[in-house]
Amino acid sequence: MQKTLSLILQNMSEKNATLLTHSLNVAKLCMVIARNMGMDEEFYYTAGLLHDVGKLLVPNALLDKSITIGKEELEILKNHSKWGAEILRLLGLEQFSTIALLHHQDTADLPLSVQIVSVADKFETMTSLWRQYKKPVSHKEAIDELWRMQIFRPTVIEALAIAQMELITKKRITKVGGGGDMRGYTHLAFAFAAASSIQVLTHKDVLSLPVMVAGISALLPDVDHPDSLLGRKVKLISWVVNKLFGHRTVTHSIDFAVGLCLTVLLSSGFAYWAWMFVLGYMTHLLLDNLTKTGIKLSMFRHDSTIGLRLVKTGGVIDTAIFLICLLVLGFLITKHV
Ligand SMILES: [Fe+2]
Ligand SMILES: [Fe+2]
Repeated sequence: MQKTLSLILQNMSEKNATLLTHSLNVAKLCMVIARNMGMDEEFYYTAGLLHDVGKLLVPNALLDKSITIGKEELEILKNHSKWGAEILRLLGLEQFSTIALLHHQDTADLPLSVQIVSVADKFETMTSLWRQYKKPVSHKEAIDELWRMQIFRPTVIEALAIAQMELITKKRITKVGGGGDMRGYTHLAFAFAAASSIQVLTHKDVLSLPVMVAGISALLPDVDHPDSLLGRKVKLISWVVNKLFGHRTVTHSIDFAVGLCLTVLLSSGFAYWAWMFVLGYMTHLLLDNLTKTGIKLSMFRHDSTIGLRLVKTGGVIDTAIFLICLLVLGFLITKHV
């Protein structure tokens, strides 16, 4: 079984990083829930790992969608339970196939094994940023929601509540969401460093208004997320934009960015500050292009994602870029102010 499992994990990691991280998180939660309930930890770890195996057959464009998906697409996505159960049967892992088949059935008569995986799955999904078309909720809100659904046994939800606390304190759960964006401060530092370099090269002041414009414009694309650096400052606007378009859709599309930048340039008569605005906005897209979610070629095509998929929010590369930009900025300020 170990060989089959590592093959499945390898397939998941090659197909979709979010699918792998979600599955690993659900597996860890299931394992601790099982431990807290005095059940077979290894069985539940594996069950958590395999519950979404059917998603290997779902197109990546659908798995990575950043807005609420349509009816037809939802049907395809829903099939992953059926496909998962079939894959597991074919692989001789039928002991997990009922869980894969039923983990999205929201009925009160689910077998205990399905309930355990289902609460872990729902909790992980609700609290993770990878569900980009919806804002993640807090752990408490997620657990409250599970109670509200009135389909899970109290002992299962209680075991989950303890399990998530154990895992969070031990930092065993990977923030999947992280794949989505660079940190706001990285965007800010990168734009400041780039704009200041241009200022120095053109013999202008490092600390100046055009540099500020580049910084603000570098935060602008994330206005579609109320929890972003800029979104927190303009909560209402951010909330409206998020509700209308979702996160990483319109403002992170190349065609929208080009249109916006051209408008700013034309309406300002190609002013110097307008070029700084363009610089800031483009640095945002450039950095987000490095992330797992990437950016969109067109705001009209939700499956037009491009991205190098290298960076995780708060990960080593994100932090390294941030620190390098700070160093560049520090250097420019001390040398040229
Ligand atoms: Fe699922
Ligand atoms: Fe899942």
